Amino acid sequence: MDKRRILILGGTTEARDLAARLAGRTDIAVTLSLAGRTLDPAPQPVPVRSGGFGGMEGLVAYLRGEAVDLLIDATHPFARRISTNARTASQVTGIPLLRLERLGWEETDGDRWTRVASTSAAVAALGEKPRRVFLAIGRQEAKAFDAAPQHRYLVRSVDPVDPPLDASHVEYLLARGPFAVEAELELLRDRRIEVIVSKNSGGDATYGKIAAARILGLPVVLVERTAAGDGRHAGTVEEALRLADHLIAAFRKRGV
Ligand SMILES: NC(=O)c1ccc[n+]([C@@H]2O[C@H](COP(=O)([O-])OP(=O)(O)OC[C@H]3O[C@@H](n4cnc5c(N)ncnc54)[C@H](OP(=O)(O)O)[C@@H]3O)[C@@H](O)[C@H]2O)c1
Repeated sequence: MDKRRILILGGTTEARDLAARLAGRTDIAVTLSLAGRTLDPAPQPVPVRSGGFGGMEGLVAYLRGEAVDLLIDATHPFARRISTNARTASQVTGIPLLRLERLGWEETDGDRWTRVASTSAAVAALGEKPRRVFLAIGRQEAKAFDAAPQHRYLVRSVDPVDPPLDASHVEYLLARGPFAVEAELELLRDRRIEVIVSKNSGGDATYGKIAAARILGLPVVLVERTAAGDGRHAGTVEEALRLADHLIAAFRKRGV
């Protein structure tokens, strides 16, 4: 039996978990695609290709060249360009697309969230008065906070922020999640943080700071996602597995 070829666009825990669940299957050949930005990427359970495709056209060429049967976009909810490219490439090639996107966090009693639509809105939401800010939004968007150099920043990211921020009081912390609530509490107390800036990434790995903020009564400026696109959607790995199986069964029925 010919194996069905699945390309997973990854860079997330969900993508790795999904790949691990599919790795043992004899009817499927899975490749995981990473952007190649992280200097020391975590080990993966299936063969990996790394680096951009060269825009939407490059992705189309790859999908055709590798005779991919199913494209699964399991990239981060805030990785917008690759998801747009995946949608268009699926339309151009007719190769089915499944979006695996973890659910966002929901506000609960005791949370003090200010929800904003963009990183620049998060900068504005910090206000004029100097504050001690925990910036936990990843290194790519951190530079936007050059617009508010009056604050003191603790910036946490997996890889170094390069070039660094313009503000005169910035501490950099290199760390990769998951982050436990206890450790986050200690960090926030130790650095006397007054406000946290985070993306609404969802998932457990980085929820510790949100829970810690609730315990300490700290405000959180939360950058929200843009609305999900049309098409097949899964919020969990389990759901994605079910939908992937359904799509693969459809190939068989059509005798493809
Ligand atoms: N944005 C976040 O907050 C965040 C957080 C955690 C993890 N990540 C992961 O980090 C990666 C980059 O995120 P981003 O926000 O820079 O994405 P992005 O802005 O949507 O993507 C920028 C470009 O990077 C390449 N790319 C992105 N993901 C790729 C993948 N999985 N495989 C191959 N090429 C990929 C594509 O280049 P070409 O156009 O040349 O194909 C894409 O156009 C993603 O894989 C994402 O899942 C992002």
